[in-house]
Amino acid sequence: MKHFLFTMFLTGISALATAQSREQLLLDGWRFHKGAANGAEATTYDDKAWQQVSVPHDWAIVGPFDKEIDKQVVAIEQNGEKVPTEKTGRSGSLPWIGEGWYRTEFEISDSCDVAELIFDGAMAEPHVYVDGREVGFWAYGYNPFRIGLGRAMKAGRHTLAVHLNNVEESSRWYPGAGIYRPVRLVEHPTNYLDTWETFARTTRLSGISADGTSAKEATLYVTTQAVIGHDSKKLQISQSLYDAEGNLVKRYTTNLNRGRSGHQVMALADVKLWSPEHPVLYRLVTELKDGDRVWDRQETAVGIRSIDYSADGFRLNGQLRKFKGVCLHHDLGPLGAAFNKDAFRRQVRLLKEMGCDAIRTSHNMPAPWQMDICDEMGMMVMAESFDMWRSAKCRNGYARFFDKKADGQSEPWWQRDLTNLVKVHRNHPSIVMWSIGNEIPEQGSAFGEKMTREMQALIHSLDETRPCTQGMDRGTSAMASGTWQATDIPGFNYRLFIYEEGLANSPKGIVLGSETASTVSSRGVYKFPVKEEHGMAYDDGQISSYDLESCIWSNLPDDDWMYQDKCPWVIGEFVWTGFDYLGEPTPYDEYWPSRSSYFGIYDLAGLPKDRMWLYRTHWKTDEPTLHLLPHWTWPDRKGEVTPVFCYTSWPEAELFVNGKSQGRRRHTDVDLAEYEATRVSEKMPWGGHSWFANPSATPNRLDRYRMRWMDVAYEPGEIRVVAYDSAGNVAATEVVRTAGKPHRIELVADRQSMPATPTDALGRALDCPSLSFVTARIVDKDGNLCPDADAQLSFAVSGSSAKFNSCCNGDATSTEVFTAPTMRAFHGQCVIVIESTPTAGTATLNVTSKGLKSGKVTVNVK
Ligand code: GAL
Repeated sequence: MKHFLFTMFLTGISALATAQSREQLLLDGWRFHKGAANGAEATTYDDKAWQQVSVPHDWAIVGPFDKEIDKQVVAIEQNGEKVPTEKTGRSGSLPWIGEGWYRTEFEISDSCDVAELIFDGAMAEPHVYVDGREVGFWAYGYNPFRIGLGRAMKAGRHTLAVHLNNVEESSRWYPGAGIYRPVRLVEHPTNYLDTWETFARTTRLSGISADGTSAKEATLYVTTQAVIGHDSKKLQISQSLYDAEGNLVKRYTTNLNRGRSGHQVMALADVKLWSPEHPVLYRLVTELKDGDRVWDRQETAVGIRSIDYSADGFRLNGQLRKFKGVCLHHDLGPLGAAFNKDAFRRQVRLLKEMGCDAIRTSHNMPAPWQMDICDEMGMMVMAESFDMWRSAKCRNGYARFFDKKADGQSEPWWQRDLTNLVKVHRNHPSIVMWSIGNEIPEQGSAFGEKMTREMQALIHSLDETRPCTQGMDRGTSAMASGTWQATDIPGFNYRLFIYEEGLANSPKGIVLGSETASTVSSRGVYKFPVKEEHGMAYDDGQISSYDLESCIWSNLPDDDWMYQDKCPWVIGEFVWTGFDYLGEPTPYDEYWPSRSSYFGIYDLAGLPKDRMWLYRTHWKTDEPTLHLLPHWTWPDRKGEVTPVFCYTSWPEAELFVNGKSQGRRRHTDVDLAEYEATRVSEKMPWGGHSWFANPSATPNRLDRYRMRWMDVAYEPGEIRVVAYDSAGNVAATEVVRTAGKPHRIELVADRQSMPATPTDALGRALDCPSLSFVTARIVDKDGNLCPDADAQLSFAVSGSSAKFNSCCNGDATSTEVFTAPTMRAFHGQCVIVIESTPTAGTATLNVTSKGLKSGKVTVNVK
């Protein structure tokens, strides 16, 4: 309702105006061809036989998986390898390599004077043609870019053709392929506001309330840039700020200066502040006026908030806090790289459910739609740019472009890429820092230090409000070269035991855990005996969910928290990773089939691994957590030692096996000095050494956040944990029972009502499809999850309001494609994604499997 009132109000304004800038999403009506196509840029080219697709589109996600795709015989240097070995699955084993063509038409209206095309990202190396003529090229597949079409475009239909090319060994993960983010046509009148030049930022807050949700006074500083084709002495810029209810808060109007720019200092009183917990957004309407005539109008979502990084730590709106963040690659599991708002909203919802408040867009520029959602739902963001600079991490990666200049360009690609990153995204209140790189190989060189300074200077010239960081994995050499000291907020990737040294060399006296943990696990899999391991691989391509396994360069969450909790100068962390992603199947880089990661706190389907509750214990301080593992269905383990772990925020708990107490456990603290003193040094394959916690010297280090009963003998029945509060009262209980035979399929939809996919009067998509994620669980006759059920499931959607989109079971070793309506359950579960059509009504998903009672769920599409 609020939104509606607001829209009405704005519509009122636009009725007074003539021919303002108009943005049109070009989502529907594309034709796609995989491979080369001679002359496909020409207007007259016959593309009727090409596949009809909508954008965002990822041509590779349909599969099939193939071991030979992008098979790399390489030594992964960051992992310390010296000798090249065959790596399969490194970039997902999906058919993303090669050329692809897209074609569509767009319409230039009579009132358009200047046109531009904006691509939010196209994978990769897009060459863009309009009416057969090349109008633009962008090297980096992750960055938004715009192509000015000038004032010469004739009204009427025009042909748009895009050629893409993905080369092997250009990525360390699955990059996707195709026009995987939206394309926009923007038409401007003769005088207009430059699309990316309006920048609104909070420069001052005072009288912040104790809870940080409001401020007595705020200053919003807004700069704009107009492009003038028809001069007039009366040109003015007007800026109006509306609150979330659509009420006008403040309006300022000033004359346009000679430089055609506007600078507005808006003094505001009694403002509501943006934060992850209260993502309040205002709306800024900027108008370019000539007397009563409104030449152009822009709308910008504005979050009023302050960020401050000082020796005390990080403050948002004056409140000290630590980042409880995760790193995310850009793929959306079974949807591939094709951006979908609902899929990303679901990710944000799941992350917030465990108390996460920040995302690092590793290791590249985010999608603009993604940033809108972070603003709306409340998620802080470290917006990253590069995984490499001049030195290649993989043979054909971005290093091919980094300091090269495209024909006719005076700036190298890194400058153009950073410029677009900052200009496109700087209005988002959710962004709290920029990252200039991840584990850049040159971090230990003079070049690394020089580039750090140059990149930061460029970013600060475009945005004076946010600091830069970079994730450094070779901290000691980065400190020796000065790269560490040159970085506004130096970030460690892992390397806990040199945090203190990092602090001593940090310009602001703070250190960020820019990448932490890299703990690995497979949902529902438990390995025995239970012990801590670095880099362990098993015959079945899976990893244990006791959450005790990490890589040779990484560690367990418990270790990160030792520093997060005990050192005020550590400003938080970004865990590797929030969700499993396609590619990088460490520690199974050489194992087939294995084609997606094990690092996720949630699996590739978005189902929680046990680790989710471990993080929740630590991060979600406003709700209690109580979780038991493993499952309790072990027909072959009768009488065998089967440790039980409990992840809980309660201080004490007692475990019962079939009613027999196994004793009480309490969280116990560990002394950081003792923990550090007992660390062990291991020689690293890349030279030098790394420090690790010593499990035997500090045996209680894992009892700070976990409760462990290591000697439990398995007997079928139930395990029950009773949690006690600090006064010793029973606070909560949790039970896990031995499951019987698989009996039926239970379905739970993340939403049973969703909007019809919106289209305009001509049936053209106005947005990406709405999605519902349905979890299928194979349960016994009493409703207990059958933890090893792996039945083949089939999916059918009836009704014209929705259709099957994809499915995913979270098994990194599965080669079943995501886009066929059948898949095995993995450890009893599978997620099915259904998408709404433009037709309102109901649709029913049926999930069937031989020998099981089928499951049904109906969704309403409105
Ligand atoms: C880091 C790197 C990430 C990922 C991770 C796996 O060193 O920054 O991209 O490779 O290791 O542990």
